[in-house]
Amino acid sequence: MFDEQEDKVLFDRANLLKSEYVIRASGIVRKRENPNPNIPTGYYEVLVRDMEVLNESAPLPIQIIKQTEDSEEIRLKYRYLDLRRERMKNNIIMRNRINFEIRRFLNERGFIDIETPFLTKSTPEGARDFLVPSRINPGRFYALPQSPQIFKQLLMVAGFEKYFQIVKCFRDEDLRADRQPEFTQLDIEMSFVDENDIYELIDNLFFSILKNVYNIEITIPIPRMKYDEAMSRFGSDRPDLRFGMELNDITGIVKKFEPKDFIAEGIENGDVVYALVSPLSEKITRKYLDNLTIRAKDAGCRLFSWGKVQNGGISGPFKKLFGRDGIQTDIAGDNQAIIYSCMGELRTVQSFLGEIRLEIGKILDLAPKDRLNFIWITDFPLFEWSEDENKIVSVHHPFTSPKEDILNVEGDDVYRIKSRSYDLVLNGVELGGGSIRIHRADVQEKVFSILGLTKEEIDEKFGFLLEAFKYGAPPHGGIAFGLDRMVMMFQGEDSIREVIPFPKTASGICPLTGAPDEVSERQLDELGIKLKNN
Ligand code: AMO
Repeated sequence: MFDEQEDKVLFDRANLLKSEYVIRASGIVRKRENPNPNIPTGYYEVLVRDMEVLNESAPLPIQIIKQTEDSEEIRLKYRYLDLRRERMKNNIIMRNRINFEIRRFLNERGFIDIETPFLTKSTPEGARDFLVPSRINPGRFYALPQSPQIFKQLLMVAGFEKYFQIVKCFRDEDLRADRQPEFTQLDIEMSFVDENDIYELIDNLFFSILKNVYNIEITIPIPRMKYDEAMSRFGSDRPDLRFGMELNDITGIVKKFEPKDFIAEGIENGDVVYALVSPLSEKITRKYLDNLTIRAKDAGCRLFSWGKVQNGGISGPFKKLFGRDGIQTDIAGDNQAIIYSCMGELRTVQSFLGEIRLEIGKILDLAPKDRLNFIWITDFPLFEWSEDENKIVSVHHPFTSPKEDILNVEGDDVYRIKSRSYDLVLNGVELGGGSIRIHRADVQEKVFSILGLTKEEIDEKFGFLLEAFKYGAPPHGGIAFGLDRMVMMFQGEDSIREVIPFPKTASGICPLTGAPDEVSERQLDELGIKLKNN
């Protein structure tokens, strides 16, 4: 507060101050004559008697106090200004508090924070590696770790028993709102544990974070659901449980109502028919519904149809396809509703309707924003066929323990094997995942061979791990969480970029520094690297 009556010269100088100037001021603290309860400093003010400008500010490229819609490019280019905004500052401060609570909790339980190398060998977590050329070993490359997976297992062999680390991981993959090329994991590993020890530890960890940082009490134990159940009820291995609208297997109902021949034949050959039932709403447009038919085909489903249940009858393509009298009542009861039905191979149908369930949930605003629905998803398959890579891959990673004996399993039977793995899901977002590990060299070698690695490749890539398992490796297991995702969810943000101080854009660029950048000819020479198109 500058008072013209008290000091005209100072008052005139104050009038020249602009947004974001840095000043030092001294004066008298006093109660405001007209308090304003809407601002934090609303009850008191400083009557300034002396003021010095420590630094001026150029006109701002982005507004700090006023909420404006700036492009991400601009926000990241001037991130140091963007971070001055209240919301962003609060996100970073809360991130620190979450971090601190995690450390306190784990330290109290005897976990040791141990660092693992960044310049290392490739770890198979399913993404591409960032490579770092070695100058003193020409032609050789380090890989930045996709996770500390192998090192944390080696620490168990080393006898540490309870390890944790809050650590940067690097993955060269296509970016999305919840993915960054470098991100932070809370990484945990323990010896002599089974799944229940992990659930108990993590349930309590999340209880503590939410209680001590947000004063929210969640109910623990966090419920658990097997992968197969999650897929059949929600069409997803990370179901959003904030709303119902579950999928229904209507194969039996369709059969009962004497379907057309080609449908009966499809079912005979192993196809399933699933349905999703949503409330009737004008927000679900004809255009949207018609478009679903095309999308279902693109997703690999053999048949898709929708129908509106109104006044005891059904309309739309569903009627033409399945519309025997009464079938809609068996599916949707007496409600006014829309039925979306889909026929095809089990997982394809489930995944497609799972996607539609989420979309309709969004359109109809079914998921309450302030609800936290945690769920453990367990018993994933150990392997799956990857269409993209055209080969068999691990659903988690190759160090995950099978749930049953695997040494004598051959051929397609490997797809039936479940793993001792678990994911923690919050409101449809995978916060973290882990498993009880393989600790025997013969089982590990068998998994590598199922994944198509030859004996030589196994030796070359993982010989050191298999050797370590020979020297009394304890049974062990662990988990890792995306810390960025955790903070994003708790802060109610839509993107992890809002909780990372200096993130990259969706195309992996840092507009502030200009990274990634070209390097000099000399640097390349020293590394023995020649660029192909230069
Ligand atoms: P996973 O690959 O599931 O498991 O990763 C664990 C968690 O890390 C987060 N995450 C990411 N966050 C932001 N950007 C990314 N690109 C990104 N990739 C992953 C997710 C994910 O759930 N070593 C195993 C864990 C273990 O088995 O202990 C691993 O890394 O929240």
